[in-house]
Amino acid sequence: MRFPLLLALLCLSVALHAEPPHGVVPLPHSIHTGSGTFALNGQTRIFATGDSARATATMFHDWLRDTQGLDLAIDNGTPRKDERNLVWFETTKTKRGGSAEAYRLTTDERRIHVVGADAGVFYGMQTLMQLLPAAKQDKLDIAAVEIDDAPRFAWRGLHLDTGRHFFPVAFIEKYLDVMAMYKLNTFHWHLTEDQGWRIEIKKYPRLTEFASKRSETVVDHKVDPYIGDGIPYAPGYYTQDQVRGIVAYAAARHITVIPEIEMPGHAQAALAAYPQFACTPGPFEVWTNWGVSENIFCPKEETFAFLDDVLSEVAALFPAPYIHIGGDEAPKEAWKKSAFAQDLIKREKLKNEEELQSWFIRRVEKIVHAKGKRIIGWDEILEGGVAPDATVMSWRGEQGGIAAAKQNHDVVMSPGEYCYLDHAQGPAESELFPLGGYLTIGQVYAYDPQPAVLSARERGHILGVQGNVWSEHMPNAEVAEYAAFPRALALAEVGWSAQSTRAYADFERRLANQYPRLDREGIRYRIPEPQGLADVLQIDQPHYRLQLASGLPGASIYYTLDGTLPDPKFSPRFSAPVDVELPLEQKRELRTLVVTADGRRSGVYNATLWNRHPKPAVAVTGGNPGLTYAYYEGRFPTLLEFEKAAAGEPVKRGEARSFALKDFKDKKNFGLVFDGEFDAPTDGIYRFVVRADDAAAIAIDGEVIVRNEDYEQPREARVPLQHGAHRLRVHYMQRGGGADLHLQWALPGQALRDLDTAKPRR
Ligand code: ACM
Repeated sequence: MRFPLLLALLCLSVALHAEPPHGVVPLPHSIHTGSGTFALNGQTRIFATGDSARATATMFHDWLRDTQGLDLAIDNGTPRKDERNLVWFETTKTKRGGSAEAYRLTTDERRIHVVGADAGVFYGMQTLMQLLPAAKQDKLDIAAVEIDDAPRFAWRGLHLDTGRHFFPVAFIEKYLDVMAMYKLNTFHWHLTEDQGWRIEIKKYPRLTEFASKRSETVVDHKVDPYIGDGIPYAPGYYTQDQVRGIVAYAAARHITVIPEIEMPGHAQAALAAYPQFACTPGPFEVWTNWGVSENIFCPKEETFAFLDDVLSEVAALFPAPYIHIGGDEAPKEAWKKSAFAQDLIKREKLKNEEELQSWFIRRVEKIVHAKGKRIIGWDEILEGGVAPDATVMSWRGEQGGIAAAKQNHDVVMSPGEYCYLDHAQGPAESELFPLGGYLTIGQVYAYDPQPAVLSARERGHILGVQGNVWSEHMPNAEVAEYAAFPRALALAEVGWSAQSTRAYADFERRLANQYPRLDREGIRYRIPEPQGLADVLQIDQPHYRLQLASGLPGASIYYTLDGTLPDPKFSPRFSAPVDVELPLEQKRELRTLVVTADGRRSGVYNATLWNRHPKPAVAVTGGNPGLTYAYYEGRFPTLLEFEKAAAGEPVKRGEARSFALKDFKDKKNFGLVFDGEFDAPTDGIYRFVVRADDAAAIAIDGEVIVRNEDYEQPREARVPLQHGAHRLRVHYMQRGGGADLHLQWALPGQALRDLDTAKPRR
């Protein structure tokens, strides 16, 4: 029977065409357009049926009053069937599709109806607010629509590290407000760190009196050698009253607060206050440096009694079913040196310190269970055997989460390469704050928290996904907002929306509807790059039509093409397509600055425009030597300095089979020049990618294509090559040890492959 399929396809295409673009984030499960329009006005009445609908109705009322100046009447009760011009929030006992977070939102010309269980009605209201304008408008028309919505995952988390830097209660409330707007329902509150303890524990007053303060803070990323700022940091802590206030504030927004109390590592501040819980006598300072401290809790009875007391107070403050007990990054040096810890390992017949950590976490799990809660911990808690009932938060990639799910443990996915919102969002030179790392919003959006390697049953253990906001390099709220937003919105959609319906281009379009809402909340999000900004490499075409647009309503784009910094006073403002002349082989640098309607400035976002002629293949004669290396000794301050030095005679030359550095692993300060050939399999634009600890450059036929001195971020460039052999030269340098070199290439549309596999011709 072909007909039903054809009919279904027809209906689908009609539905797709009929759907007006909406700007809702996260994308609802299904939206169908009806006919007609609801006109919201001063006579519209709000109805609330059911327990929590009243609270939702009040929030909606207040939002309308604040954004539109409308002060609508609220009725407690159910509207008559024939009643018109109303917004009805209806809480039902039944959960739609089994989810308390699911809702149905219908609008027609007579009324708006939001129905669902408790949280569902609240989320329906959030969607409704996104269908209404963010700023005052005379006419408030809503096109008739039917939305059926439910989350993909139950855990949609956002984390905040308040240990490294402290964020005031007002900021946390703002963070929770924005989480609720995007249906994020779990706030992971990181409360204790090496650098500061932030939660009041009545029985141990020194945790806050002493351990919430440090003498100074390391400057920027200067951990080695250490440079301190000399400024005492005593920002305060959260009192138990404040904690209760935040928990209630979150609950009113259907957000669960998960407290994290770190153990056995990340505990130096606690040990500074109470050194008796360490394996060594101390004294310890509240740490002023970033990194991983070796001063961790000692697995003594006194320590467990202390943790029991702390967790009792914590359990009483937080109604959440979980307490996060950390478990990550606990170096074992102190336990290796401790006679007590070593005796304990023997007594408990443990193999090593990893098993001792597992034993430690199992002890803590019993303590937490006794308080009616369960533990969740970072994926290190798998090492030495995971505690029986633990939930695992996978941060070192997905492997921990996959392993845990295979062992029938619940998992929250938070892998660094998709979910660490403390990483920079673009190339370092274009970022307003020095965050380190590299994670674009597109990469966050690309994440699917259910790894394909898991079976359907195992996938059921993936509770959800979480974005983490570590605050080492976030001294204040402005930087935290810049880091978290708008990426947290991408993460919200990863957590809420069905994988099959998600598409980045559509998300980007819907984001335009969100920026004014973030503005209203006073969120200083990272201003997006102009749309259309991209490196351009064209072949033998001397003109390029530059077309830029901002995803931000009302924003202006200023640009330069001569390498100078764009400036609203002196640079042209982009208003219409520009024909840029591109003389052959003359790279032009496009630099752009986005300024919002209210004057906020972006970083400077760059691209290169380049008209090139493909490099001809070099003539090949017999007896090509393959890959060779030249080895230079010395501590070169920069790659350019090394490239200069490499004009001289090396200490040693030889043949190399690949770009592997294993023959040089014991060397501390050196440089290498590799010479070989790259065989271009076809005419084309080739992409080369390099990442190295510490720095490396790739040259083709005598031209340096790409240099990278950032050991964390890969860097890439493209070059047009004719089919055939090309001279390849790689400069690599190392300062201080830890040699590492990654070289890759690809043709357009192909996956990257190691440059090693592009064997030089022999
Ligand atoms: C972590 O990022 N150390 C969990």
